[in-house]
Amino acid sequence: MTNFWADLPKPFFILAPMEAVTDVVFRHVVKKAGSPDIFFTEFTNATGWVHAGEKAIGSRLIRTEDENPIAAQIWGGEPGDMEQLAAHCKELGFHGIDINMGCPAKSAIKSGGSALIRKPELAAAAIAAARTAGLPVSVKTRLGYTHIDEWRGWLSHLLRQDIVNLTIHLRTKKEMSKVPAHHELIPEILALRDEIAPNTLITVNGDIENRTEGLALVEKYPGIDGIMIGRGIFHDPFCFSNVQPIGNKFSKTSAARASASASAGESEALREAVLENSVDEKANKMSLINLLHLHLDLFDQWDTPDHPRKFDPLKRFFKIYVNSFEGAAELRDKLMHTKNTTEVRAVLKEWSL
Ligand SMILES: Cc1cc2nc3c(=O)[nH]c(=O)nc-3n(C[C@H](O)[C@H](O)[C@H](O)COP(=O)(O)O)c2cc1C
Repeated sequence: MTNFWADLPKPFFILAPMEAVTDVVFRHVVKKAGSPDIFFTEFTNATGWVHAGEKAIGSRLIRTEDENPIAAQIWGGEPGDMEQLAAHCKELGFHGIDINMGCPAKSAIKSGGSALIRKPELAAAAIAAARTAGLPVSVKTRLGYTHIDEWRGWLSHLLRQDIVNLTIHLRTKKEMSKVPAHHELIPEILALRDEIAPNTLITVNGDIENRTEGLALVEKYPGIDGIMIGRGIFHDPFCFSNVQPIGNKFSKTSAARASASASAGESEALREAVLENSVDEKANKMSLINLLHLHLDLFDQWDTPDHPRKFDPLKRFFKIYVNSFEGAAELRDKLMHTKNTTEVRAVLKEWSL
């Protein structure tokens, strides 16, 4: 079995799986802005796929060769179905399988997601079933279902299942995302891993906004192997870039940002320009707008007869790109009234963008 987890930099950074966000289109935008070391797909239900086939999962399992490595995230409560979907993911060329055991949504906990925290035997069976595909199997979960002190028993159980990586969203299911993530538990979790499964990598998740914050956490708790960032990408699409942000949270212009969004020649000019703060805002704006153009192009490219894409969900991304520069609110308002990508481009042209 080829295990990509063994060849990663330390710490490694992962773009968190986010349903209706981290599809093949947005993953490529993030890759261009500043690539994480690993991608995960949105979660895909095994039972849905086994019973209803491709139409149950839409475009969730589309991947391209340049997304490397990428793990397919699957979920469910029927090990037989997990086995079949894992085998399918292998055929599709995925490099790993991640099992979601943390989703708190009502629809998920009927059979899987965080419900598996309360069904440890089923969780073990799901891992064993996924492993039959011959790909490295990892798990993403929460600290517990209701009480924080469930973490020790639950994580010990998972660590005994010989998984390659355990990602812990440092909250319970009950806490949803309403309280700050429990970073203070990291040292105890790492000690537990060292005791039970020293070869299992530990990735931490929850309230880590960008690479700088991730690196600071690793400096504080040196045994962390990986950092997973989710919502930070909404505040800064360049959050995986390895250049320190300049200025406030919404003004993270950097040489890396400029080079990510410009051609080679322009990049040099922008790089110099960015370093002079006088044009910082302009470079910031153009780098974000260039990403929006890329998003539109990729959206059109992946809007195919087999997988038609709805336009309205695209609007939720505008806030990511049309942000932190003068006139952004007004431009966003105009964009929210568009009906397709052609109209979006026309508005941007009207604004000379
Ligand atoms: C819109 C959205 C969709 C999500 N979908 C998934 C998913 O498909 N699978 C999963 O394991 N977690 C999912 N999550 C949870 C995130 O992966 C992550 O654990 C959570 O947002 C906490 O990390 P953060 O503080 O860095 O955002 C989702 C979160 C959001 C906000």
